[in-house]
Amino acid sequence: MTSITDHDEVRKTLEVVPLSAHGMLPLNVYAEIYEQGRKSQGGLFVEVGTAHGAGTIALALGAKEQKSPFHIFTVGMFSGQYSSRTQFGSVADNVVFVRSQLEKFDVQDQVTIVPGTIVDLLASHNIKGIDLLMLDADGCIDRELSPLFGKLSPNCPIIIDDIDDLIVVSKANGRPFLDQKHRLTYLLIKILVERGVLREERRIHNTGFFRKGPATVDSTTNFVRGIACLPRTGFCQNRPPADPHAAHVQRLGRRQHADGTTFVLASEALAGREMKIRIRRRR
Ligand SMILES: C[S@@+](CC[C@H](N)C(=O)[O-])C[C@H]1O[C@@H](n2cnc3c(N)ncnc32)[C@H](O)[C@@H]1O
Repeated sequence: MTSITDHDEVRKTLEVVPLSAHGMLPLNVYAEIYEQGRKSQGGLFVEVGTAHGAGTIALALGAKEQKSPFHIFTVGMFSGQYSSRTQFGSVADNVVFVRSQLEKFDVQDQVTIVPGTIVDLLASHNIKGIDLLMLDADGCIDRELSPLFGKLSPNCPIIIDDIDDLIVVSKANGRPFLDQKHRLTYLLIKILVERGVLREERRIHNTGFFRKGPATVDSTTNFVRGIACLPRTGFCQNRPPADPHAAHVQRLGRRQHADGTTFVLASEALAGREMKIRIRRRR
């Protein structure tokens, strides 16, 4: 079976995209995003988590290969303690850079950049039907799926990044924090697949390629309500704690082991089982 990256021209372009637009995903994930655009029948696409536009550009380049008109609304915070773009500059600096990348790959006419969150997108544009959704923000995928689910076309492709069951201690803008983005996404996906909201087709590395599932959910349904036990700290931009590291220790408990290793206990909240996450060694 030939893949899109076997085509020299496309592969070369897709190699340049993440280098130029500071992409954070592996090449074969960008290749599959490109492929999803190419296999689409155009229409309206929504992406949440622009960063510097690598995923947006891959999707747009693929979609340009098919004949129907399409438009991508890409939503990015470009700011905040946990944003990968904060150190680059202000929101305006980031938007200027993303625009320059869209121009570089000649997809500027097909993309609208929306600084902010899904709330800003829905307040500023009349988004009626969505033909492809791509989520790669902070792991709170229910926040976007709740207001958008009713707008997704039947069988709509939904691409979600960082879906593996991973917790790490990370640094964001110089400060350490317990990064539960992947774990949170993993747990949410498990529930959403069980409820028929998502149907998984394939995954490449940590990126899942889903379709809208058969669930019938009315527009007022908030997926968060059913999964209130999930912690929303650490990486969540909605309620960023002043010190995410300290907030976790406070909420979840700390235990000192004989060898001096400190663990954060994330038992009840995360998975119904106790997890020990090594955070610091103290002597
Ligand atoms: C992992 S990066 C996205 C990488 C991108 N998909 C690529 O291919 O390079 C996640 C981005 O989501 C943004 N973000 C975080 N929370 C967000 C939210 N609630 N709404 C919109 N964007 C958000 C951050 O600013 C960050 O730049």
